[in-house]
Amino acid sequence: MTTTAGKEMFSRSPDLPNLIVTRHPLLRHKVTLLRKRDTPKKIFKELVDEIAMLLAYEVTSDLGTETVRVETPLESTTGDIVLGERLTLVPILRAGLGMVDGVLDLIPTMRVGHIGLQRDHDTLEPIDYYFKIPLPLEESVFIVADPMLATGGSASAAVTYLKKSGATNIRMMCIVASPEGVRRMLKDHPDVSVYAAALDRELNERGYILPGLGDAGDRLFGTE
Ligand code: PRP
Ligand code: URA
Repeated sequence: MTTTAGKEMFSRSPDLPNLIVTRHPLLRHKVTLLRKRDTPKKIFKELVDEIAMLLAYEVTSDLGTETVRVETPLESTTGDIVLGERLTLVPILRAGLGMVDGVLDLIPTMRVGHIGLQRDHDTLEPIDYYFKIPLPLEESVFIVADPMLATGGSASAAVTYLKKSGATNIRMMCIVASPEGVRRMLKDHPDVSVYAAALDRELNERGYILPGLGDAGDRLFGTE
């Protein structure tokens, strides 16, 4: 069963309490275009950025703000600001890189760390090859970004690395999630909310999401 809130802008299901699927019509429109086999590489990248920006809006909706005094042309008043320096975006290489520009367009002062993980094609287990996160970690809110949450192995490993390094406030954003991946995240990291633009049906025998959008990294970077 799916419950809705507000004007059905996001959906949650009781068996996946860690998942928030953003239902904004523009987001659903862009995901549909992304799925199309014949969407060209340039448009694919632009759509990934636009979706990442819209997801980031949702992922950051509970952030704390600080009140500051500002001078308008007419008088002095107060307003709220978000301290972007206390936010760290962590794309999982490679495909997560495709989401960085879109998020930074929204929050330019955000810091960016990188985690390199490559899924082994046979075992589907993630192999790590890079880890560089801006310090200090303790005060930051981390947003792990990867277009695809398939078995959940890569996202779970990325969150484990961050936690081992001292991160305590972590959330994950992906474009397409599988039920298997969301369940894996719930089991391994129940404290981490997963924000997605779509929850798809299942994984195939090669660990690809169905209906999905294919290999996000290959479509972003033109590899096969
Ligand atoms: C893809 C994708 C995720 C991962 C998802 O990356 O971008 O990182 O697979 O699969 P999982 O949930 O089963 O771990 P891939 O390992 O193919 O590397 P790439 O980004 O370099 O293409
Ligand atoms: N990685 C992708 O890029 N696509 C999938 O469907 C699964 C993992």
